[in-house]
Amino acid sequence: MALRVGVLLNRRILQKAVRGVRTFERIEYYVEAARELDVELVLFDTAGAQLNKGVVTGYVPGARGKLRHRTVELPGAVHKRALYRGAVGRRAVARLQRRVYLFNPEIPWDKYAVDQLLRSEPRLCPNLPEARPLEPASYAWFQRQMDAGREVFVKPRRGSLGLGILKVAPLPGGRCRLQSRSRRWSVSMGEAWRRLIRTCKHHYLQAGIPLCQDEGCRVDLRVVVQRGGDGRWHVPGMAAKRAPRRGFLTNVARGASVHVPEELLGRIFGPREAARILEECAQLGLRAAETLAARHPRFADLGIDVGVDQEGKPFLIEVNRRDLRIMMGLSGQHSVHRLVYKNPIAYARHVLLEGA
Ligand SMILES: Nc1ncnc2c1ncn2[C@@H]1O[C@H](COP(=O)(O)OP(=O)(O)O)[C@@H](O)[C@H]1O
Ligand SMILES: [Mg+2]
Repeated sequence: MALRVGVLLNRRILQKAVRGVRTFERIEYYVEAARELDVELVLFDTAGAQLNKGVVTGYVPGARGKLRHRTVELPGAVHKRALYRGAVGRRAVARLQRRVYLFNPEIPWDKYAVDQLLRSEPRLCPNLPEARPLEPASYAWFQRQMDAGREVFVKPRRGSLGLGILKVAPLPGGRCRLQSRSRRWSVSMGEAWRRLIRTCKHHYLQAGIPLCQDEGCRVDLRVVVQRGGDGRWHVPGMAAKRAPRRGFLTNVARGASVHVPEELLGRIFGPREAARILEECAQLGLRAAETLAARHPRFADLGIDVGVDQEGKPFLIEVNRRDLRIMMGLSGQHSVHRLVYKNPIAYARHVLLEGA
């Protein structure tokens, strides 16, 4: 009997895919992977799942890859690519999760809580920038960072795409410079702190990493970490992101450019040192994924931001539970781009054949 694998998408993305409209999701790579791995694919959204009947209505690729609207038996394994902010979507996922092997799980995503979880692994601690909750008791820590000449990043606990992030940099004479996406201004340290406490309600603090730079622009890496056809974690590839001039965010959505990491880090550190650093970044990504998966076993696909400091030491900046995967294409690494779509399908196949 054929193995059936589902990909759960947000409705809007699914509708666009069916109409052939481009989104971050490269549907044709799922189709290609399914063909190569000889599995039957169904793309669906939560409304398509009819659990009482054990079927799902969605889209299956026909001959030549064209998507057809079909009702098929519920797949045994589902790769969840959708994110749900509301209770309705979350409940639908919870119901689905009870019937099929669904990865990645829908869990509350608080970046500070993720940081604390990662810190439970002692081998990760040297590569985690210090972090603190944004609360009055953290002022002494904040002052110490400023006194040490270090920047502090103030980040929303649930943010993404670089939105809502503030950078605080020390200035001489007990002052500091605040920088947001659209403005920068300088105030005294005490004023900065009062402002942060007053206006940043759901944020946390992270010590700044003195990121390595290329032509005066800050650089960090996206490390993709996924389970593959053998059920184990792998790093199929990485991409380097370079902030625009004077920018402090390396998000593509904030205007960063994307590069092949060996080339970009090679320019900064030389090719041998770059290879060593990238290997360390991959190991850091793998260790972080294993640590998170020890608590949430159904994690299978993560995109990790890793900053490399000017000495070449990697630090984990954040873990993304749904990597948009666009950076592989934008950096011209097309075979890696395909591979990051294939691994989850191969993992689903592995789960169906051998169990998780
Ligand atoms: N501690 C830090 N040190 C240096 N740069 C940082 C730090 N934290 C964030 N950044 C910069 O801000 C960007 C966005 O931060 P990140 O934590 O990845 O949040 P988001 O979910 O919005 O992408 C990073 O890619 C990096 O360029
Ligand atoms: Mg990020």
